[in-house]
Amino acid sequence: KKVEDQILIIFGASGDLTKRKLIPALFELYKQNLLPNKFAVLGASRSALSDDEFRSRADEFIPNDEKREEFKKLLFYQSVQNNEADDFIPLKERLDEISGALEIEQNYVFYLSTPPSLYPVIPKMLCQNGLSKSENNFRRLIVEKPFGTDLKSAKELNKQLLNYFEEEQIYRIDHYLGKETVQNMLVTRFSNGIFEPLWNRRYIERVEITSAESLGVEGRGGYYESSGALRDMLQNHLLQVAGFVAMEPPVVVEADAIRNETLKVFQSLRPIKENEVSRYVIRGQYTASTIGGKKVAGYREEPGVDKLSRTETFVSLKFFIDNWRWAGVPFYIRTGKKLPTRVTEIVIHFRKVPHHLFGNASSDSNNQLIIRIQPDEGILLKFGMKTPGAGFKVQTVNMDFHYSDLADKKVPAAYERLLLDCMQGDATLYSRGDAVEAAWEFVQPIINAWETNPEIPIYGYPAGSWGPEESAKLIVNGDWRYPCK
Ligand code: BG6
Repeated sequence: KKVEDQILIIFGASGDLTKRKLIPALFELYKQNLLPNKFAVLGASRSALSDDEFRSRADEFIPNDEKREEFKKLLFYQSVQNNEADDFIPLKERLDEISGALEIEQNYVFYLSTPPSLYPVIPKMLCQNGLSKSENNFRRLIVEKPFGTDLKSAKELNKQLLNYFEEEQIYRIDHYLGKETVQNMLVTRFSNGIFEPLWNRRYIERVEITSAESLGVEGRGGYYESSGALRDMLQNHLLQVAGFVAMEPPVVVEADAIRNETLKVFQSLRPIKENEVSRYVIRGQYTASTIGGKKVAGYREEPGVDKLSRTETFVSLKFFIDNWRWAGVPFYIRTGKKLPTRVTEIVIHFRKVPHHLFGNASSDSNNQLIIRIQPDEGILLKFGMKTPGAGFKVQTVNMDFHYSDLADKKVPAAYERLLLDCMQGDATLYSRGDAVEAAWEFVQPIINAWETNPEIPIYGYPAGSWGPEESAKLIVNGDWRYPCK
């Protein structure tokens, strides 16, 4: 698809995300010739930097190859304050100047990668300066996470943004949807005749989604203290993944068709009432331990963290989707920091055969389809095979596909895909306002219960373990899969 000429304006250009993710993703797109013919990036933030200073900062984050100097010519910088509408006049003038000098159409994508308190402020100023709408050109707004900190603030933010931009112009990022393997969930389900007929309550016993990180909060203690695993990972990324696992086939592969189906999943989530939270949700916090002979600090010892913090660094959850397809099938989600390994995967546990020909239930194979989102992207199917030799002994074997075997194809980073999609005006992999609110609606009673009921425990778990033992008890007839046990 042709990408129209445009300028990408990044607010928060001196921040971490710009350096670690956005500039490297743009550089990749540049190297693959995927950027528009005429294109520029205007970094904006409060710091006073020249274009050259902004360009040389990029050096630290993109590899030094022959294309780098060429790419850096596309980068510009404008310092902006954001106290009153007039503060945006220099930005507007700079955009006029760049689009004039480089003959770029005044199509603008504004990327909010600032502290969240500015999410409603910047769109307002863009609107007051006539930058949010144009007769002949497109204007789009990308909003980074977190989208609100609870249901009320998310609703409020949606309302404020809609004062200045239309829903069709707003692109709410959830970088998990940018991951190739998450999108492959749809292809696995809807392009294979063999899986979809089984993809329901009759053949699936339970679904498990795990997103484990071996890192801790890595200097982000200040942010994480007010967030925690539920808000940081589950409300957004992992519910979106569950949406792809559980959705009905969309009528077409288009933004609204797909997003309508995700919304329906969220609307079918059985609410967890505040007084049921301790039955369905386990929270934990990592404590000091020794990993591979090295002492590791506990969460409460991390910089920026309260010594008595009750912020969860681990959460696991059991829930149901009350609809025709999934009635009675438990879904489990688990995520945490300082777990034994870094892995994100979806495990589909199929029901056992109805009659046990080769012994009892435990001698049958446990059929599992494991979709590895990262880091070893791929798909693994476990099925039973006869152990060679006398008798009929069943053993479980693996059919395993690794993306790394596709030697000629590089798996693009999530931000490459998402940036390009927005530049092309495709919002399929961005969250819609109503779905974000529906996800918050599901999570809100958990937040309320944790905040108001001090009797709900927050279990300690030693850094480097798989989280609190209580988490295993959520699964009645079985256990979590432990990918590296
Ligand atoms: C971010 C969270 O949204 O996702 C981080 O704020 C988390 O705490 C990260 O580490 C995980 O993303 P990925 O792509 O590394 O799985």
